Amino acid sequence: MSPENPLLVRAISLGGDKRKITEFYDEWAKAYDHDMTDTIGYVGHVVTAEALAPLVSGDAEILDAGCGTGLVAVELKNRNAALRIDGIDLTQGMLDEAAKTGAYRQLVPGDLTATLPFPDNSYDGIVSAGVYTNGHVGPEGIEELVRIAKPGAPIVLTVRDTAWEADGFDVHIRDLETAGRIRVREIRHSPYHANEDIFCHLCTLEAV
Ligand SMILES: C[S@@+](CC[C@H](N)C(=O)[O-])C[C@H]1O[C@@H](n2cnc3c(N)ncnc32)[C@H](O)[C@@H]1O
Repeated sequence: MSPENPLLVRAISLGGDKRKITEFYDEWAKAYDHDMTDTIGYVGHVVTAEALAPLVSGDAEILDAGCGTGLVAVELKNRNAALRIDGIDLTQGMLDEAAKTGAYRQLVPGDLTATLPFPDNSYDGIVSAGVYTNGHVGPEGIEELVRIAKPGAPIVLTVRDTAWEADGFDVHIRDLETAGRIRVREIRHSPYHANEDIFCHLCTLEAV
């Protein structure tokens, strides 16, 4: 296995600290796309778009949770240009880059560990790539996504393998299903950082 890229070592050591997260991503925002896709071989945006696009129709309203620079929305729009995609992220520098893609209907600053600024049952689909990972957002963040998804809406997210059990995603997702809050459509092992031999759990959930 290749040694992990120093940027990723920093990223997964942020400890969920909002100030550290925004400082780190503000500094990285302009070089993020190149470093992630060319150097690290990140494919989280591709695998999530591939999973979500066939599950939503025409002009569906989609939330990209932790949208970063907009890689996911660009992939989704390539598959269905009619989608209406909103993005939310903690880091203004990343949102500024996302705005340049022209792929979003609106971009909103916000924290996925807090109450989200959207009413219940807002979205036809939700996607989140690269956010449920060590040092970022824990499994508790999933409840808010479920609240703002319409009943039956797909919620597609990546969970980095190293966070899956260590941060309790396996138990939390099972508990949400047992409580009747979600249905698990599919959880499969997927490439994540292809040049680093790092994988993720690609989860397709459904709000109940
Ligand atoms: C690895 S990037 C992934 C960005 C994008 N989804 C992608 O696939 O390229 C992680 C993103 O999560 C955001 N983030 C981290 N913690 C967050 C939180 N609590 N609320 C909202 N966004 C958060 C960061 O600002 C950063 O843009």
